[in-house]
Amino acid sequence: MPTLETTFYGHTYDNPFMNASGVHCMDVTELDELASSAAGSFVTKSATADGRKGNPEPRYVNLDLGSINSMGLPNLGLDYYLNYAILRQKSQPDAPFVMSVASYQGFDEYVDNMRQIQDSAYTGLVELNLSCPNVPGKPQMAYDFEDTKRLLTEIFKFYTKPFGVKLPPYFDMQHFDKIANVLNQFDLKFVNCINSIGNGLYIDETTDTVVIKPKGGFGGIGGEYVKPTALANVRALKQRLNPTIEVIGTGGILTGRDAYEHLLCGASMVQVGTQLQKEGVHVFERLTAELLAVLEEKGYQSIAEFKGKLGTLD
Ligand code: FUM
Repeated sequence: MPTLETTFYGHTYDNPFMNASGVHCMDVTELDELASSAAGSFVTKSATADGRKGNPEPRYVNLDLGSINSMGLPNLGLDYYLNYAILRQKSQPDAPFVMSVASYQGFDEYVDNMRQIQDSAYTGLVELNLSCPNVPGKPQMAYDFEDTKRLLTEIFKFYTKPFGVKLPPYFDMQHFDKIANVLNQFDLKFVNCINSIGNGLYIDETTDTVVIKPKGGFGGIGGEYVKPTALANVRALKQRLNPTIEVIGTGGILTGRDAYEHLLCGASMVQVGTQLQKEGVHVFERLTAELLAVLEEKGYQSIAEFKGKLGTLD
C-alpha cells in the first residue's frame, strides 16, 4: 500500500493536503474542523492588524468552472489568530500548521504585523500573503519586485522565525526570473503558488450583470480555470528557487490527479480553495483516496518517487 506521507519544513505530514487561506479558516470552529479533517495540515485566514468586515456582499460566487471572489480580507484580526496559534502550538506540538498574515494598509502594516508575531510565543510557520487582489485601491505587493525586496529586507532585520510568502500568478518568463531573483536573496522557507488570478470578470447570462458587488464585479478567479497557470507557477518557481525554499501548490485542485500534477511540478504541499468551498471539509477524504489511487495505478510507493519529476518533450 503506498503512503501519502510528505515532509515539509522538517515535519512529516500524513498527506500533502491543506486548505487555501480564505476558505473554511475564519474562526476557531472552522480551524478546528480542518484540524480534525483528513487534511494533512491547515492554514488560518490571512490576518490584518485589526479585524475587518471585508467588502460588501455578494463577494464570493461559485461558478461551473471555479469561483470569483472579492472578499476584501474579512478576518478577526491578528490578535485572534495569534492567540489561537499560540494555544494550538502548545496543546498540539506535533501537528504543525501555518498562520497567514496580510496587510490592509500596505508596507508598514506588513512590518508591524511580523514584528508582533516575532515578539509573541508562536514559533511555527507563517505565510506572508503578498498577493491579495481584493483591496480596493491597493496593488498586490508581489507584483512590485522592488517593494517586495524592500519589504523582505525590512522584515529580515528583526524576524528570526520560519516564514514563506504567498505569491500571485506570474505570466511571463522574465517575471518568473525576477521574482525568483528577489526571493533567492532571503532565507525563506517556502513560497505558495498561486493566489487567485486577480481581477477577472464574470458575467451572468440572464441578467447581463457582473456577479459580485465590490470593485464593479472584478474579482480573483479560482478553481478549474486556474490550474494550468498554477502548475506553470509551481514549476517555474521550483526550477528557479534555491533548493532550500519549498513550494506549496495551490490552484485548480478538484481531483487527486490535479494534486498529483502539482506534486509532479515540485510542490511539497498542496492547498485546496474553491473545491473546499464547494464540497466542505470532506473533500479531503475524497482527494486523499483519489491521490492514493493514482499512486497505486502508477506503481509508486511514495510521493518522493515522483515529486518534481515532470517529463518534458526535449
Ligand atoms: O479578499 C480576500 O480576502 C482574499 C485574500 C487573498 O486572496 O489573499
